[in-house]
Amino acid sequence: MGVKYKSDREIKLLREAGRLVAQTHAEIARMIRPGLNILEIERYVSEEFARHGAIETFRDYSPSEKYPPYPSNVCVSINDELVHGIPRDRELEEGDIISIDLGATLNGYVGDAAFSYGVGEVSDDVKKLLQVTEDSLWAGIRAASKARHINDICGAIEDAILPSGFSIVHGYGGHGVGRSMHEEPHVPNHRMRIKGARVRPGLVIALEPMVNIGSPEVEECDDGWTVKTKDGSLCCHFEHTIAIREGGEVEVLTLP
Ligand code: MF3
Ligand code: CO
Repeated sequence: MGVKYKSDREIKLLREAGRLVAQTHAEIARMIRPGLNILEIERYVSEEFARHGAIETFRDYSPSEKYPPYPSNVCVSINDELVHGIPRDRELEEGDIISIDLGATLNGYVGDAAFSYGVGEVSDDVKKLLQVTEDSLWAGIRAASKARHINDICGAIEDAILPSGFSIVHGYGGHGVGRSMHEEPHVPNHRMRIKGARVRPGLVIALEPMVNIGSPEVEECDDGWTVKTKDGSLCCHFEHTIAIREGGEVEVLTLP
């Protein structure tokens, strides 16, 4: 119960897990092109994590009885799929927008990050969607250094998205990260009615804005995991795990 603020020793371990996740993402970013089969991404993640002695955090994960064990080490969500897309035998196509979400557990601590990409040449709408969503993540990261409570971060993310006219997805958001991938506090991408937990040194959270071009409504698919937009419009997701250090300095743990 409650937020577990981390010691320097724990942050060091979280940094190592975060760095592995970041390096794996950086290599995947170089692989992305029209024609790449999604299953090659899954295979690359298996190899990298095994080579570093890391556990695939996502595999067999089930937050509650409602969810079947997650069947892969990576979430790949394309176009109208927002998050938690399950890798399948499909080639990336020119113009796709794709989100890759990865989690590694190294020496008992988790790193969690997600990035979205345009595949080949993409529309201006997709370019703007990528820009707005990534900018809102960084607005949240910047806000974390002066924030007193979680809601100050939520508000900064919301304020960065609203002027775009795109919509903020409710019901999903960021979370504490530690020995488990999902710890308290929950970090919505919009203001809450409460101030939320104290932001102070030792807080480690994943921020993960999710933005739709169209309506904010989403639905879960029959596979039990994939979350899609209800209106079929494009959507986007970025995520970093960050730590609050002494003096309010914010360290992004999932940078390579
Ligand atoms: N990184 C995501 C999150 O923070 C994905 C986890 S879902 C899983 O919620 F099943 F893939 F593990
Ligand atoms: Co996450």
